[in-house]
Amino acid sequence: MKNYNIAVVPGDGIGNEIVPEGYRVLEAVAKKHDFTITSETFEWGAGYYLKNGQFLPNDGLETLKGFDAVYFGSVGLPAVDDTLPAKDYTFKVRTSFNQYVNYRPVRTYPGVTRPLRTEKHIDFVIVRENTEGEFVQMGGQYLPDEPNGMGTDTSVFTRKGIERVAHYAFQLARKRRKKVTHITKSNTLINSLAYWDRVIKEVAEQYPDIEHEQMYIDNSTAMFVLKPEIFDVVLTTNLFGDILSDLGGAIMGSLGLGGSGNINPEKEYPSMFEPIHGSAPDIAGNNIANPYGQIWSAAIMLEHLGETEAAQNIMDAIDKSTTQGVLTVDLGGSAKTSDVADAVIKNL
Ligand code: NAI
Ligand code: MG
Repeated sequence: MKNYNIAVVPGDGIGNEIVPEGYRVLEAVAKKHDFTITSETFEWGAGYYLKNGQFLPNDGLETLKGFDAVYFGSVGLPAVDDTLPAKDYTFKVRTSFNQYVNYRPVRTYPGVTRPLRTEKHIDFVIVRENTEGEFVQMGGQYLPDEPNGMGTDTSVFTRKGIERVAHYAFQLARKRRKKVTHITKSNTLINSLAYWDRVIKEVAEQYPDIEHEQMYIDNSTAMFVLKPEIFDVVLTTNLFGDILSDLGGAIMGSLGLGGSGNINPEKEYPSMFEPIHGSAPDIAGNNIANPYGQIWSAAIMLEHLGETEAAQNIMDAIDKSTTQGVLTVDLGGSAKTSDVADAVIKNL
């Protein structure tokens, strides 16, 4: 029987509540299909930093390399400098493991009230470039305490980096409704994003069967709200994708509904699966966090590992649970975090 060895990194805040529940769903779905799951849990993150002075140990990345995938919650605590979680954990894993695709689907959940006026069905995927762009953390501060102080962050867009994520997006569109909308702001970022446009257009020419459209980020935020049904694959930069995916969560009905994968398509390294949101310290510790996005992330992980039937099984069980009204507080319900996992497992 096939076994998958998963590194489990709950992280901080609600990560410690939703990751174990998501893992319960994983174990249950494995029992119904022909594979097994083994795992090791690593208590890394901002809490680990408070005790050990780092987010993960020196050999942490080396340790993760031995696993088939990483099942992650999120990192960050109010007591810890918030410039560190991304730099010392999230981006570190994403870039070290060449997880250059951040796959973030957005869809209609049955039985969930969403804030949009439109009743139309929503089903698209944000493909966020995940290793370069605005988040490379190249920059500095000059005389920050002085009246003439300044700070810079440089955006980096390389041909290689754009081409690979663009190919991923167009190939994904081939399996879907055959449309890629690439998000840009090249009318003002006339060097970096004009280059982004140029390289994406070159890639698009290799996919004549795929409709390709370009949209500015400002307009796209409006379209997410007014006409979300027009999107199929949304190809976007690291920063724009970060922002758009929270908007994607909001139009589904809650940030807690969004699942994602940080994917290394070549499978040279493990990929990492996490909900789109953060550690939500404002609600942590009460068993009220919405775990649907974390559970969805487990399905995305199984799909990546080749267990498509099990992944679909989870998605169907999620839909059944929301249809039955198993909704957490953020969705206007009263279900606890663990009630949701119980319902999903029952509905598998
Ligand atoms: P957040 O996403 O943690 O929370 C934003 C709001 O959404 C909060 O009101 C929270 O209660 C709510 N929320 C988020 N997830 C929810 C869920 N599953 N169920 C119900 N409500 C939910 O973002 P925020 O507050 O900006 O950041 C908190 C911490 O998380 C910071 O330290 C930040 O750096 C970190 N963070 C970490 C990420 C990661 O590890 N990938 C991603 C984003 C933020
Ligand atoms: Mg984010």
